Amino acid sequence: MYAMSDKIFFITGIDTNIGKTFVSLLLLLAFKRRGLKAGYMKPVETGVKINEDGAKNYLDGAYVKKYAGLNEEPDIITPYTFQSPLSPYAALKKEGGDLCIKEILFKFYDLNKVHDYMLVEGAGGMLVPLKKKHFMIDIAKYIDAGVILVTKAGLGMINQTLLNIEYAKSRDIGVSGIIINNVLNENDESRASNKEILGEFTDVPIIGDIPYIPDGCCPENINMLNALALKYIDLEKILL
Ligand SMILES: Nc1ncnc2c1ncn2[C@@H]1O[C@H](COP(=O)(O)OP(=O)(O)O)[C@@H](O)[C@H]1O
Ligand SMILES: [Mg+2]
Repeated sequence: MYAMSDKIFFITGIDTNIGKTFVSLLLLLAFKRRGLKAGYMKPVETGVKINEDGAKNYLDGAYVKKYAGLNEEPDIITPYTFQSPLSPYAALKKEGGDLCIKEILFKFYDLNKVHDYMLVEGAGGMLVPLKKKHFMIDIAKYIDAGVILVTKAGLGMINQTLLNIEYAKSRDIGVSGIIINNVLNENDESRASNKEILGEFTDVPIIGDIPYIPDGCCPENINMLNALALKYIDLEKILL
């Protein structure tokens, strides 16, 4: 198998808006519940608007910080932002500025030092262009992370999930777990057998099967999130 860390996880998805941030939050709550100190990083975020006073409107980092109670400030969680809602590379081309992968790694090591576990959320999926000649998933490789793949539910999910796993394998990147997230509220006939059939075609543990949660994005209270983490995330499968 691959020499991936079992303490460092890279959260990616089969698509953007598939629930990477929501799943990261539930994972952080699941770690916390077991008394494990887990940190979170979102190295690059696009679509971050800047207020008149110059303050950045961090999206994922601010949301996760708020509900997971992270100590770090959003600018530590997210060292690089772009205003355009584009891939990082497209935003970099349009806006200028820089994006230094080494700098991301230094910032990551600082966070990693003070946490037992680290979750690093990518922007979009694995082959989102990061900068010239680099893809998003390269970061997972550089930090020796095990990938946690957030995938859709419903018809088509087996194909999408297996394609992503095969790609990671082709790059010698280990996949630690799959989380099925029914963010699209798919209710076709395949839904009932998604997990079982997927399990027959991959050895990667399926560590979650999250249903569509109305208003799941804007929970009224932390108890609801903790209950969701407890019910739908099976952390044991990635803890050795
Ligand atoms: N299981 C779910 N049920 C309902 N809404 C969800 C679910 N998972 C995620 N969402 C919502 O879908 C949107 C996209 O999720 P998000 O975690 O931000 O995706 P990503 O990080 O992959 O772009 C958010 O508004 C989020 O709250
Ligand atoms: Mg996100």
